[in-house]
Amino acid sequence: MLEIKDLKTNFNTYDGVVKALDGVNLSIKDGEIFGLVGETGSGKSVTAYSVLKLLPKTAEIVAGKIILNGEDITDATEDRLRQIRGGEIGIIFQDPLSALNPVMTVNEQVGEILVLHQDAEINKLAYEKEIPVYKSEKWKSSPGVEFTIMAICISFISLFTMIGQFTFGLPFLFVIGIMFLRDYLQKEVPESALDLMVIEALSRVKLPNPKQIASSYPHELSGGMQQRVMIAMALAGKAKMLIADEPTTALDVTIQAQILQLIKDIQKEENMSVLLITHDLGVVAETCEKVAVMYKGKIVEEASVDQIFTNPQHEYTKALLNAIPKGGKERLKVPEIGEAGAI
Ligand SMILES: Nc1ncnc2c1ncn2[C@@H]1O[C@H](COP(=O)(O)OP(=O)(O)OP(=O)(O)O)[C@@H](O)[C@H]1O
Ligand SMILES: [Mg+2]
Repeated sequence: MLEIKDLKTNFNTYDGVVKALDGVNLSIKDGEIFGLVGETGSGKSVTAYSVLKLLPKTAEIVAGKIILNGEDITDATEDRLRQIRGGEIGIIFQDPLSALNPVMTVNEQVGEILVLHQDAEINKLAYEKEIPVYKSEKWKSSPGVEFTIMAICISFISLFTMIGQFTFGLPFLFVIGIMFLRDYLQKEVPESALDLMVIEALSRVKLPNPKQIASSYPHELSGGMQQRVMIAMALAGKAKMLIADEPTTALDVTIQAQILQLIKDIQKEENMSVLLITHDLGVVAETCEKVAVMYKGKIVEEASVDQIFTNPQHEYTKALLNAIPKGGKERLKVPEIGEAGAI
C-alpha cells in the first residue's frame, strides 16, 4: 500500500541544515495497523508530513521515494496531492480543534470533503431518493424583504378596496398567496443528499445525535467528539489509509481508549491501513500489529508487536520498553460503556 524508501528530509534553519529524516524505510501493507514509535524529535511527524507534502517551506525532501499503491508520488503535482490528501490518505492530528475550521459547522466541513471526493455518490443518492443534491438556497430571502412586500401588497389591496375597485387589488392578493405557498414549500424541502451523507459519515464514527452534531461548530464539541469528526472526514473521503499522528495524546485516558477502539473498528470494517504515530508503547501494544521504532531520523527496528515486547533487538527499543510505566497497558482497556456514551 505505502512504501517509503530511503527518505531523507532536511530543514534549512539559520543554524544550518537539520537532517530530520536520515534514510527512512517503511512498508505498510493493505489493511494493516502499523505503529511508529519514538521519542520527541525522532522524526515521526516529519515522516508522515513528507508523505503528504504537508511540510513547512523550510523543509526539503532531498532523497528517497514514496510509493502509494505502486504509484511513485515523490514528485506528485499539487493537483494529484490534493486528491491523495483526504481521498486516498486521511490524516488526523493530536489537536483536532486546530485542524478543524472554527467558523464552519461540522456539516459544512464534512460536506466539503464529500463534495470534493464523492460527488458521484451524492448525485446517485439524490437520484435514488428523489431529493435535492444540495440544500436549495434559492427559496431563501431575508424576513425584512418579505415583510416589505407583504406591507406594500396589503396597502394596495386596502386602497383599491376603499375606492371600490377591489378587482385591481386581486394581483396583490395573488402575490401574498404565492408568498405563503413559498413558505409552505420551503418547509417541505427535504434534506439534501449531501446532508444525509454527512449524517451517515458521523454515525459511522458512532457520534451520538449526529444531526445535532452536524449543525455544531467545532468548539462546541468535546475533544473526543472532535477527533471522531476528524475520523469521519477521513472516511468521508473514502481514504484507504489513515495516518494518525498522536491522535489520543491530548485526550484523557477513557476517551483515549474509545478513540483507539474506534480506529481499530473502522480499520476492520473498511479494511483500511493505519499508520499510528505515538510515543506510547502501551498504545502500540493495544492497537497495532506491526511496529517500527524511530530514533534520530532513522528506523532502528521493525517487527511484529509481539516480537518487540518479547524480544527487542535494538538498545533504544529496550530503553523505550523500560520507560513504560508499570500497569501502563491496563489503563488502556476499553471500559464497558454503551457505544459513544461516555464521550
Ligand atoms: N519546523 C522545523 N524547523 C526545523 N527543524 C524541524 C522543524 N520541525 C521538525 N524539525 C526537526 O525534525 C526533527 C523531527 O521532528 P518531528 O516533529 O518529526 O518529531 P516527532 O518524532 O514527531 O516528535 P514528537 O513526538 O514531539 O511529535 C526534530 O528533531 C527537529 O530537529
Ligand atoms: Mg510529532
